[in-house]
Amino acid sequence: MAGRTMSQTDIVILAAGKGTRMQSAQPKVLHQLAGVSLLQHVLAAAETVVHSQNIVVTGHGAEMVERSLSSKATIFVQQTAQLGTAHAVKMALPHLRDDAKVLILYGDVPLIKPVTIGKMLAAATTDSMALLTVTLADPTGYGRIIRGRDGLIESVIEQRDASPEQLQLREVNTGVLALTVSQLKSWLPLIDNNNTQGEYYLTDLIALARRDGVRVDSIQPTSTTEVEGVNNRLQLSQLERAHQLELAEALMLSGTSLVDPARFDQRGTLTAGTDNHIDINCIFEGTVSLGSDVTIGANCQIINSSIGDGVQIKANSHIEESLIGDRAVIGPYARLRTGTELGADAKIGNFVETKKTKVGAGSKINHLSYVGDTEMGSKVNIGAGTITCNYDGVNKHSTVLGNDVFIGSNSTLIAPIKIGDHGFVAAGSTVSQDVSASALAVGRSKQRNIQGWKRPTKDNQDS
Ligand code: UD1
Ligand code: CA
Repeated sequence: MAGRTMSQTDIVILAAGKGTRMQSAQPKVLHQLAGVSLLQHVLAAAETVVHSQNIVVTGHGAEMVERSLSSKATIFVQQTAQLGTAHAVKMALPHLRDDAKVLILYGDVPLIKPVTIGKMLAAATTDSMALLTVTLADPTGYGRIIRGRDGLIESVIEQRDASPEQLQLREVNTGVLALTVSQLKSWLPLIDNNNTQGEYYLTDLIALARRDGVRVDSIQPTSTTEVEGVNNRLQLSQLERAHQLELAEALMLSGTSLVDPARFDQRGTLTAGTDNHIDINCIFEGTVSLGSDVTIGANCQIINSSIGDGVQIKANSHIEESLIGDRAVIGPYARLRTGTELGADAKIGNFVETKKTKVGAGSKINHLSYVGDTEMGSKVNIGAGTITCNYDGVNKHSTVLGNDVFIGSNSTLIAPIKIGDHGFVAAGSTVSQDVSASALAVGRSKQRNIQGWKRPTKDNQDS
């Protein structure tokens, strides 16, 4: 018979542990994987569940953990003494809804997948509870799954409480389980701490379920990375690489070539069209979108930016909070800072820094320049060594360049300043007054040539 369907889910995330082996002043669940905290990964997976509420059990570093999630609709409960996983779940009981299912997750097991959570919740009914298990080559440290002659799960025995025969079992408890709130409320008070660790074990729920005739169904994760916990920085780095490889594989299978998937880092959301080509050691942070036919050279960092079709980003370029139009060419060694917008076919060359700057279609800043707080039209050419003096020490001022403006090399544009369409600035000029359309500005002292000039000679000295 099928269990009554329940549409609400309460998700309890255990995060009270200290994480001693991290050797850190920071609570373990705040350490980052792929650019966000371990706890945020778990919450992101939990948030895929409809009609759910999340309850995080904090303990060590509770304030820091709560502060890290201040914008999220999460309920926090504190477990002041860590008396075991069952005791931790007990702290959440006042928030659990009687007609809901409850899913237990762990703040230090970051890569649990929504699909697995879905299977767990589907398997949790009034007749059966769900336990996420996995078979490991080396089960050391984990609770072992004890099955009866009928093959059904009967109990979980912790490593320290297991007999030598039980230690041979390789199917282990991941800790993740799902059941109804009413089942949890009836069994939790029955759990004692009569075991070698003197802890209240959540895993005792399994034997209690069997006692009451509730079947325990096992669900398996799609891969072991889903259920791997982080205890030290070595494990954190291993999980990071495993996760990055999964992200790299998904990207490749959707049509982007990576020269080496082992040297790729995605810290956030990356969307991409097809036929993109990414060289080694590139880092994508925050929300980044790539069009199609984009090539990215080695060692580029792209943060919260949108890149159009056919863009070429050459090696060692850094792009942050920028919008890049189709077919633009950037770098090598370019730095595009917050608020840079490149029009189609624009070019930004080596050792150029831009900030809050709109570069019109087909405009070029090819070498060694700083351009900030600037709006420029199309087909503008900025010569090598041009500097916009946008800051007077107190305020920022803007530079406005029309279409087809030409700025000669090594010019200094003192903002606020406007140069009209087709305006021309002679090389080496310091320009502090507006230049009208089609005018030439020469802002440098006239050259004098001194005929027959004698070079200085060395002073008459002893040595
Ligand atoms: C637990 C399981 C074990 C399983 C293993 C998987 C129990 C009794 N055992 O063992 O069967 O194989 O996880 O990793 O559940 N926590 C609290 N408050 C507490 C105790 C723990 O919040 O009082 C949190 C910890 O921060 C940690 C998690 O619960 O994130 C697991 O606790 P831990 O003591 O590491 O459990 P294990 O001994 O690994
Ligand atoms: Ca323990």
